[in-house]
Parts: sequence; structure tokens; C-alpha cells
Amino acid sequence: MQSFRSLLYRFSTMTTLPSSAPDSTVTKKPTRDVLLVSIWRGEADEGDFEAHSVPAHDNQTVLDVVSWVQQHADPTLSYRFACRVGMCGSCAMMVNGEPRWTCRTHVSKVADDGALTVAPLRNLPVIKDLVVDMDPFFDKWVAAQAVHHPSHSRADPMQPVSTQTPERISANEAIECINCAVCYAACDTVANQPDYLGPAALNRAWALINDEKDAARQEILDAVSGTGGCHNCHSQGGCAHYCPNELNPMASVAGLKRATAMRFFKGR
Ligand code: SF4
Ligand code: SF4
Ligand code: FES
Repeated sequence: MQSFRSLLYRFSTMTTLPSSAPDSTVTKKPTRDVLLVSIWRGEADEGDFEAHSVPAHDNQTVLDVVSWVQQHADPTLSYRFACRVGMCGSCAMMVNGEPRWTCRTHVSKVADDGALTVAPLRNLPVIKDLVVDMDPFFDKWVAAQAVHHPSHSRADPMQPVSTQTPERISANEAIECINCAVCYAACDTVANQPDYLGPAALNRAWALINDEKDAARQEILDAVSGTGGCHNCHSQGGCAHYCPNELNPMASVAGLKRATAMRFFKGR
């Protein structure tokens, strides 16, 4: 049976549960050599936090801690990772109430007192334990038309692209997304309005709007100006604050707001 505290942790916004407030299963300060770790166990919304004592090491990441628990304490723990070097975007979780890429998040940076609470990413359905269903996240990329629409075919000659135009510079600033969904988990608008396309899909849509190789500017503007579109963003910047690749989806969303408004008023 899920405890009230667990429910509160799982569904509260980050503003109502600061990172300094770990789950109640962590009840005492750790010794220097041990981390006190609470990990969400369960399927969908039925579950609870499970406490583990994990040996502490220098330069230990949150993913190291989760892996230790799975390898030494509970082999049935489910979680997701692949590259371990910040490239694949698959290891994101809530760490002490905040979204993080766990393979590049050192314990010492997020838990000076050695107490860690690890939960599945916010704003996405839980499949099991720390694994969330990413389909709603990627479905919104498609809904935002945030997929490449080729302007040329393989039969066409190679098209040189200048790296110095303002549009290319804007596209480059938005393009290094690793699809980790950290920004999506950080976004209060996603939490409160399930059809909001979210910072990652809109960030990619903005990259494509500025990419001269993409041939669907009008379709993208149509897609991002609807009910769940860019104008729902409240511009408080949680996405930019948490993006591990230091992208600024809020700025991309602002670019889409300008582009859709300009099209509305000027017809272009
Ligand atoms: S700035 Fe906009 S997209 Fe970013 S987290 Fe806030 S509401 Fe979401
Ligand atoms: S914009 Fe940043 S936080 Fe969002 S999915 Fe891409 S890399 Fe992750
Ligand atoms: S495991 Fe690939 S980004 Fe963390």
C-alpha cells in the first residue's frame, strides 16, 4: 500500500518539495562511509520507497549508487541507462526531488549529508521502479512536427550550409539535445497541462524552423501554435535551469512565440 508521504513525494511539484526535504524513509544522518538511499519501488502509482545503505566512494555518481543497489542488494530493481557518459539521455531520474542525468551527477554535489532519494522522472507514467514510459514524451515531438522534413533528395547535389547566418547559429544553439526528458520533468506547465508539448519538443521545433535544410516551416508553426503549443509556456526557466547539456529550451520557446505572432500579424 502506498504511503501518503510517498504519494506526496511522487506528485508534488519541485517548488512544494525542495531538494533538502528527503523522503521520510531516510531517518538519520549517514556515517562518513555510508550513503542512506531511498529508492522508489513499484509499478505505476502502486509502490513505496525502499531504504538501502550503500558504501560511499569518492567521485561516486547517482547512477553508481543505483547500480550498486541492483547488483548487491536487490537484483529486481529496474532502471535504465546505456552510455554512462552523458550521451544517450537514458538515465534521467528524480534525485532528491530534482530531475538529473544520473550518470553525470556526482553524489557529493546533490547530497552533502549522504542522504539520497531516487525516484522515476516526473511528468511521465511509471512502468516499474525507476523506469518511465517515454512514449508520451516522443509522441509530442511528432505532434510538434519536430522531425526533419527534407528539402532535397539523395539525388540532389550536396547543399553547402553556412555556419555563420543568424538562423544557423540559433539552430546550433538548440541542436545538442540528448532527449533525456530532464526539462520535461522540470516543467510545471507539463505537470498542470498534460497536452502541453513541452520544452524538448518545442526546442527541436525551433531548431528546425531555423534549419534551412528543413522544408516544413509553416507546418511546424501550425503545430506549435495550437492548444498545447508554445504560448502556454510561463517563461520561468525550469527547463533551462535543469538541462544537463546547458541548452535553453525557454529561449527556443520564446523564439517560437515570436515567429507565430509575426506570422499572425504579418502573414509570414
Ligand atoms: S520555461 Fe516554459 S518550457 Fe521551460 S519549464 Fe517553464 S513552462 Fe516549461
Ligand atoms: S533540452 Fe536538455 S534537458 Fe531537455 S531533453 Fe534535451 S538535453 Fe535533455
Ligand atoms: S547513461 Fe547515457 S546519458 Fe546517462
